[in-house]
Amino acid sequence: MPLKEVDTRLLRALSEYRAFVSALAIETGQRSLIRDIILSEPSTTSAKIMKAVGISAEELVKIYRDLQTDEEFQLAVNSPYYSRRLMFNVARTVVHDLASDSDYTQRLISGDPVSSRVVELHTTKGTCNYNCVMCLWSDKGERTYDTAQMKGFGLMQTEEWKNTLATIREFGTKVAVFSGGGEVLLNKDFFRLLAFSHSVGLKTQLYTSGYNMTHLEEEEWGELLNMDRIRFSIHSSNEGTYNDIVSMPEHAHALTKVDNNLKLLLEKRNIVGSDLKIGIGFVIQPLNTMQVEDIVEFAKRTGVDYLNIRRDEILVTNPLDQESEVELRKQLLRIRQNIVNGVYGNLEIDFSDNLVAFMNEEKYLLPQVPQCVIKHFRPTINPYGLWNSCDLKGEPMYADPDFVIGDLHQDGVVKILARTQQTTIPAACTSCMPSGQTGNAIFTKLLQDHALGIDFKDQPFF
Ligand SMILES: C[S@@+](CC[C@H](N)C(=O)[O-])C[C@H]1O[C@@H](n2cnc3c(N)ncnc32)[C@H](O)[C@@H]1O
Repeated sequence: MPLKEVDTRLLRALSEYRAFVSALAIETGQRSLIRDIILSEPSTTSAKIMKAVGISAEELVKIYRDLQTDEEFQLAVNSPYYSRRLMFNVARTVVHDLASDSDYTQRLISGDPVSSRVVELHTTKGTCNYNCVMCLWSDKGERTYDTAQMKGFGLMQTEEWKNTLATIREFGTKVAVFSGGGEVLLNKDFFRLLAFSHSVGLKTQLYTSGYNMTHLEEEEWGELLNMDRIRFSIHSSNEGTYNDIVSMPEHAHALTKVDNNLKLLLEKRNIVGSDLKIGIGFVIQPLNTMQVEDIVEFAKRTGVDYLNIRRDEILVTNPLDQESEVELRKQLLRIRQNIVNGVYGNLEIDFSDNLVAFMNEEKYLLPQVPQCVIKHFRPTINPYGLWNSCDLKGEPMYADPDFVIGDLHQDGVVKILARTQQTTIPAACTSCMPSGQTGNAIFTKLLQDHALGIDFKDQPFF
């Protein structure tokens, strides 16, 4: 071959190689930029990312898919150091769910009546033995179901609850969460509703003080063991502080009772070997700030499966002073270090994302959404059959007629489900909890991305 021809070929190859390397560099740069955007704010919409990075939807999806199997990325999002870990988990759950049920997803997106996967039910009239200082249910004075005009056409009867449970199941609900307004276990109907929920195939969860279990019948314990999750609200493992928080007299021995009930439930669960997960919910507030490590020890000692730690999320109690904040952070850091060192064994400890940010000394700000979409993932029915857009609006403290989507007595479930799709709930709500804001941000991203042609199974959370 003449030398000139060899030269030309070599030069062409060299220039092709250079173009390849530079494309690779751009692609690698884009990939790490997108990974960083998703890590710092998983709810960033794809439209925003495409604009910021200057790539097409097709190119973005390719990178999203890469991230699904990127080991480093997966390690990062599951790490206790990651301040969007719970948000990422929400996104993961939603994309798997929506990708696995095209009929449900189609109905949700096209505006047909569909029931959210989770519905919260408040079946007591706010009745409770306790009067917790941080309780978000009521101001313990003027704001009640009565004064907040939340009584609609009267209390829901057992048959109406059953009809509601059957219909929401039929329209796509998978999980019924029993909570309050008050203490669920004081409601005589609860076990009937629980058994009925299970009979129609609903999974069930309960938030309880755990105080009212002493007189349960065997059959009722059995129904509890059929539940999916039961979380005991225990905001101190010290009897005195516990009583101060829940406002119970010393002679009631409330914490001892709760502790015994918790142990009994765990024992029964372990004998039967049911799938029920039993946990503790702990709300940090001025009275218990120095006891976070104590509750972790208590949780470990009792053998519960999980412990949820978060702050008083809507500042019912006074903000912590600077010194308490410093001490709180020190405790949380020690607990996290212990988690990393495997000190707590199988006990799963979830800090709210904002607490992780606090430990990391990061700012925790969630993006604004154009409208509130909690109605699609956590609407709440009050004891009088009012269907509220979210759990907070279902409580007298934050009740607002503008957030009531319908009245079950008057409208029935199907009409309310149809109206849910047509109703616009404003996003500028000052009392939104971090869990609500998190769900709002993720749901909004996923729906906007889907409208752009990005499939749920192509999201980095899949
Ligand atoms: C109002 S309680 C009612 C259910 C039940 N009686 C109980 O004690 O769990 C429902 C849930 O709200 C949580 N909670 C109460 N006040 C709170 C606050 N200020 N911030 C965050 N969560 C709160 C409780 O810990 C519980 O998990």
